[in-house]
Parts: sequence; C-alpha cells; structure tokens
Amino acid sequence: MQTIIEPFRVKVVEPIKMTTRGERDAYLKEVGYNLFLLKAENVIIDLLTDSGTAAMSSEQWAAVNRGDESYAGSSSYYRFEESVLDIFRFKHVIPTHQGRAAERILFSVLTKADQIIPNNTHFDTTRANIEYVGAHAVDLPIPEFYEPALFHPFKGNMDVDALERLVARVGPGRIPLVILTVTSNSGGGQPVSMANIRAVKEVCSRYGVPLYLDACRFAENAYFIKLREYGYKQKSVKEIAQEMFSFADGCTMSAKKNGLANIGGFLCTNDDFLAQQEKDLLILTEGFPTYGGLAGRDLDAIAVGLQEVVQEDYLEYRFASINYLGRHISDAGVPIVEPPGGHAIYIDAKSMLPQIPSSQFPGQALAVELYREAGIRSCEIGSVMRASNRCSDADETPPAMELVRLAIPHRVYTQSHIDYVIEALLSVYKRRESIRGYSITHQPPFLRHFSARFEPLR
Ligand SMILES: Cc1ncc(COP(=O)(O)O)c(C=O)c1O
Repeated sequence: MQTIIEPFRVKVVEPIKMTTRGERDAYLKEVGYNLFLLKAENVIIDLLTDSGTAAMSSEQWAAVNRGDESYAGSSSYYRFEESVLDIFRFKHVIPTHQGRAAERILFSVLTKADQIIPNNTHFDTTRANIEYVGAHAVDLPIPEFYEPALFHPFKGNMDVDALERLVARVGPGRIPLVILTVTSNSGGGQPVSMANIRAVKEVCSRYGVPLYLDACRFAENAYFIKLREYGYKQKSVKEIAQEMFSFADGCTMSAKKNGLANIGGFLCTNDDFLAQQEKDLLILTEGFPTYGGLAGRDLDAIAVGLQEVVQEDYLEYRFASINYLGRHISDAGVPIVEPPGGHAIYIDAKSMLPQIPSSQFPGQALAVELYREAGIRSCEIGSVMRASNRCSDADETPPAMELVRLAIPHRVYTQSHIDYVIEALLSVYKRRESIRGYSITHQPPFLRHFSARFEPLR
C-alpha cells in the first residue's frame, strides 16, 4: 500500500470549539498578541508545541492505573528505571518533573560562573538555565544550519572545527561539558548524525570534557539516522538510540516529547559522585530520588511511552504526516526550513515577510496572523525567544533566524486537521505583503516569549 495511515484508532475524543475571526481579533488584543497567553479553548488547532501534548495510548492509561504512589521505593520507579536504562544505558537515572528541572540540577552541580557550554543549538530553557548560573551558552552549529532553504541530511550537526577552535581559545578548564541537542529544536528539528556524535565525543575525550545529549527527541533523531546515514538501514531505532547514548557521559531528557507523556523528565549520568550531588539537590526542590517531582503514575506512563516511541510504524507515519504538511506549503511558495524536521515544520518568516525587520519580530507577526486567520496556534522561534544569545566568546554565532514553528503533537491530529492548516497558511501567504510588525510593551528578565506583551506597529 502507498498510503501511510495513522497506526492507531481513536478511542476518546475531545471536542474543538470553533471561533470566528472577530472573536479571535478580540482574544489577541486581550492577551497582548502573545499566543502563550491565550486560553487553549480558544485555539482550534494547537501547534504551539509537541511537549506534553501527546495523546497517551491505551497501554499508557492502563499503566497509569498501575501507578504505585509510595513515597519511597515505589514499583513505578523501578519500571521507569528499567525502561529508561534499556534504551539510554547510563548508570544512573534521576527523575524530574520536566526537562528544565533536569537542566537546572545539572548546571547547578556542574557549572560555575563564566564557564562556557557549547551546544549544536541550545534550546531556550537550556540557555536560560546556563545564564542563570552566570555561565555562557554558545551555539556551534554547522554553517548550513543558518541557510533555511538548503537541504542537508544532518543540519543539526555541531561544527567540530569550531568546537576545537573554541576549546583551544578558552581552554578545556572553562568548558565543564559539551551538549548535543538531538534533534535541534531551535533550528528546524534537524538531526545530528552518528558520525557527528562520534566526532564530537572524540574532541571531548581528548580534552577530558564530558559529552551530554539533550535527548528530548532521541527517537526522531535515531529514525533520521536509520533513513539517512550509511550503515544504519538494518538496525532498529532502539539499537541506534542505544549507540547514540553510548558516546555520551549523561543526558537531560524531557519525557514530554519522545517519552509520549504529559509530564516528566530525567537526568542521566555515568558518574557516581555527580549522581549523588544531583540527588542531594533533587531532594531539596523536586523530591525523593524515586519520584523526583512526579507521581508514580507519571513514571509508569513514561516507562510505556519510551518503548512506544521507538516503534517504527509510528515514526514512519509521523514523518510522513510532517513531510506532507511541509511539501504542500513549500510547493505553494511558503519558505520553510528544509528538509522538514522530525517534530515540526519551521516557516522562514524572514523570507516570507521581508518588509518586517528583526527588530519588529516577523515570526511573531506571522504567528499572530495564522491564529487570526484560522485559530491555529504556532510558536515564534526567533528574536522574541532568543532575546539574549551573545557572549564575548561566541563571536562566531550569527544572528538568530526568524522562524515560526508548527509543532505536531504526538497522535493528536488527523490528516484533515493537517489539510486545514495547509489551507490557512496559504491564505496568510497570499496576503503576506499587508502584514506588519510588532513592538514589545512589557517583558520579564528571562524567557520573555512566555509572558511578553506586544502591540502592532501602525
Ligand atoms: C530541546 C529541548 N530541550 C529542553 C526542553 C525543556 O523541556 P521541558 O519543557 O520539559 O522543561 C525542551 C522543551 O521544549 C526542548 O525542546
């Protein structure tokens, strides 16, 4: 069969409230044109994020009912630990309530002020947690990363020469760890190849610097490796993931993405001493090490989700559906980051709206118009999100791209929902020349995209 179908059936439905354009105009004004501040019930198709928005499977709901809510040593923890270690293969796993809690604990323990942490591309919470301890987050993607229209099979790769140059310039003593984000969420959901993970590890080993993976979308990255990298066609996604983790000394993970869970995360390490320090800190803010801020039932949902996400029928359908969206809008002229990513399509707002300079937030303007047009919520990944992306040692980092991410929640929307998104986007594209920019009227000191307020420029 040529048609790739959703490899699941619908068992429970959640009604969508339809809204009019006039109503959406009013909601936009109420929330200062920040889509994070909308009530979810006023959104028709929610592509804000793939994080925590998955539809859980019947097996996961069954696991939720098995949840053991003992404070210490619950059987849920041991099922969680077994499932995580089966794929991730580190010595220690420490549960946290979500990915950023794992990041906060890791950087609090491992990083000092003024140190430098290279990544292919830091996600916003990773960057913010690094900056919060006074260190510097440096992005070192390959140059192709900054050319949205360019096809490259592994655009998420780190520039290994740039890493070498950085270590030589600042010295390994200032670099407490190197991170590879798989896949790269800040720039197109693009994968990192196994060859690149191996090469980065080789540099890290030479200088005695640990390598961590930001593993939120490890299964999507592994599937890209299977499809695109020589020598991996016959391997299972799980085997490829295990090989990816074999090069790392630890990882942070948001189980809200490739854990197919609505909440949860974890931190892994092979270092006994570090694990103890992390657990001590965990107890202070997250909870006892066998629950780490989660209910037993959440740990059980993650244990099942991690095994489901590496199933290839699922990943084949997911990639086909995202590709379908990308190809349809791109063939009609909408500039997207090529090739389509593993969890989202990213629209190049800078190319689509050349009349709006970065200082007037073209990505924000496009996201607002998509909501106004059809009630579709997307996410700006550009100058609003990357308010601070500079440090004196990061001279090589070019300015942020201006992207709008259409993230596809796991197992939530059907083909007709995707067709609706395509129709809406093409309508906005037709009237693109009339779209204007925004200015910020209020912003917090960190992670401003979550709560900033905007007003349209006249
Ligand atoms: C690459 C990456 N790292 C870290 C995080 C943070 O995870 P969480 O939202 O669970 O705190 C995210 C969330 O979107 C992410 O995409």
